[in-house]
This record gives sequence, structure tokens and C-alpha cells, in this order.
Amino acid sequence: MAVKNIDELELAGKRVFIRVDFNVPLDKNDRQVTDDTRIRAALPTIRRAIEQKAKVILASHLGRPKGKRVAELSLLPVAERLRDLLEKDVVFPDDCVGAGVKKNVMDMSDGQVVLLENLRFHEEETKNDPAFAEKLASLCDVYVNDAFGTAHRAHASTAGIAALVPEKAAGYLMEKELKFLGGLMEDPERPFIAILGGAKVSDKIGVIDNLSKKVDRLLICGAMAYTFLRAMNMPAGNSLVEDDKIKTAAKLLDKAKTYNVPVELPLDHVVAAELAAGVETMTVARDKIPADKAAYDIGPLTIGKYAEYIGKARTIFWNGPAGVFETPPFDKGTLAIGEAVANSSGVSVIGGGDSVAAVKKAGVADRITHISTGGGASLEFMEGKVLPGVAALDT
Ligand code: 3PG
Repeated sequence: MAVKNIDELELAGKRVFIRVDFNVPLDKNDRQVTDDTRIRAALPTIRRAIEQKAKVILASHLGRPKGKRVAELSLLPVAERLRDLLEKDVVFPDDCVGAGVKKNVMDMSDGQVVLLENLRFHEEETKNDPAFAEKLASLCDVYVNDAFGTAHRAHASTAGIAALVPEKAAGYLMEKELKFLGGLMEDPERPFIAILGGAKVSDKIGVIDNLSKKVDRLLICGAMAYTFLRAMNMPAGNSLVEDDKIKTAAKLLDKAKTYNVPVELPLDHVVAAELAAGVETMTVARDKIPADKAAYDIGPLTIGKYAEYIGKARTIFWNGPAGVFETPPFDKGTLAIGEAVANSSGVSVIGGGDSVAAVKKAGVADRITHISTGGGASLEFMEGKVLPGVAALDT
């Protein structure tokens, strides 16, 4: 695939449409941005376009308003945060298409920034409607996609538009994500290990399947480990188990065996009668989860063993917490894994979602080689899929 980089395009004086992923969390009460990581991650691309004296048109979705105008999902708080971060005025029209927006865009001066209102206020966006893509394309001369987090969606602003604009390229964030995640898929330094956690096997089947062919060892943790334990005929007590995925888990274990890839499962568990902060806990061996208790975290033996593998690895991919890290004391396993990954001198890549929150909580985010801004997108990438938003940039 031949994807151009934003540096290869002439931007001066041109209307440059940059698809960003400003789908950021907002406070329930005051609607302020509670985590601006994704906004900050897009700044290098935005600044480059401003410096090059482009007319910068930014577009994003926020949440899933399903084609309706939902006041709580307006990008206004994002526009305000962006103004602060850029220390520059950001024009914020009340829509992303239409006569008013067209006028805003046509009146722009070089180096000016416009942030369009939530693309998903129009159902045509998620339907990749050609007429809607045409309306977006009519706003610009150049298309840049920096929204890695949305690259797994074939929407009008991520796919349809790219075929309609003569010049297109990836932004710096997109490029960085593809470099690090792509590096894992292509030629990782070995040993290469993947730590996969999280609640459900069903979310990770594709990733486990694909990574079994790529890694030297798979470390499983999080609640999905209990479905694997059941697949090995071990008791899981009241732990979260996806009964309809026990056979799938068994197949995944068999498959990894055919690739000679060891799959590590927790050696011990922290169990309790209920999930609540500060409850009384017990540590039990792998096959000794009591019938009236549930496991909510990995135990110290597992932490020690996994940290050993992490310490020896030259490349690490981690997705999904090791336990219910939002509820102490069940955060210990995840925080310890975070610390071990951060201590690695190898390449460490964190794949979006909860694991990002976990490394932040552990205070080790700045010691990780790359933290992906994509949740679903990074998982689909690690499944080996070609992301539509990336494919659309092929020239
Ligand atoms: C995300 O947060 O994963 C992206 O912004 C994509 O959002 P979506 O799952 O609503 O398409």
C-alpha cells in the first residue's frame, strides 16, 4: 500500500480537511473534556498545516448520536479545549455541511482553523453515503486522515471522501500508529510477547488467533482467563465465564499449540465473595477457585512469572487489564503488569482502551514506547485486518 505523508503535500493556501478522532470523554455534569489525549495527539498535524498556511478544516465524530442532533454530543467543549491548546481562535460552525458551513470555509484566511460540528449528527456519515461524502469533499482541496482511532470504520469522512479529493495523505499520528503497530506485525525484535487481558474472550478471538502466529508467547489475564480455565476443565467458581465461548477458548489453545506458541494462564487468583472496594480477599491456586467465590485479579505468583517473561521480552504488546483495576484491591495485578512493561528496555506498545487507563493509573505512561489512541482500531489492526480508513489513503 502506498500511503503519502502530510509532508509530501503542498498545503499553502489550500483548504485542508483533516479527519481527526476527537471522540474524547466528557464530564457528565459540566460537559468538560476529562481526557484530552486524543486532541493533543493530533496537534503536530494541525500545527504543521497551520505553519504551512493552510486553511485548516477539522472534522470528527463524538459518541454515537445515530444521525440526530444531540446537544450533549456537541463538539463545542472540544473546540474550547483546542483553542486553549493551540492558543489560537478556532471557528466552530453549528454543523459539518450546508450553506453556512460552506460560507465559513470559503471565507477562511490562510492559517485559520475551523472545527466542524459532530459528523455523526448526520446518519449519512456512518452509512458512508456518497452524496454526504461529496458534500464534505466539496469543502476542501486536500484530505488528511489523522484519525487512527476511527480508521476501522468505513464512514463518509474516513473512506468515502478520500476517493473524491485529488490529494490525500496520512497525518503524523496516523503514521506513528501504523509504524508502531505495523512494526509488531512485520519484523518485531524477539522474544515478542503479547499480554492479553480484559473481560471477554469474545472481544479478543481475532487478536488471539492472529497473534498466535506472530508472538513467541501469549500471556492471558483478566476475566477472560476464567473462560480458558473452564476450557481446561478447571473450576472458575462465580467468576465471569462466557459459557458459549469455552469451546472457542479450547480451539484457540489448540491452535497456539500447532504454532508452538506457549499460552500462559494465571497460576493463582485473588478471589472474593463480591466485587467491592476493600472487601476481604483470598489468594488461591490456579485450579482452586472456591465455588462460592469469584476471581477478580491475578495473584502474586502470576505477577512474578509474567513480570519475568516481560523482563526478557524485546517486544511487548499489551491490551486489556489483568483484573478489575477500577476496584482496589483488584488493581494490583494490572498495576504490576504496567510497572513491568514500563521497566522493559524493549519496545512496548499498548493497544488502546482500558489498558491505557491502567498505565495512566500506574503512573508509567511516559515509560511506554507507544500508547495507541485506537481502541477498536488497534484491535482490528492486530487481528491482521486492513483498516478501511488506511486503505482509503492508498494512492
Ligand atoms: C473509538 O473511540 O474507539 C473511536 O472513536 C471509534 O468510535 P466508534 O466505536 O463509536 O466508531
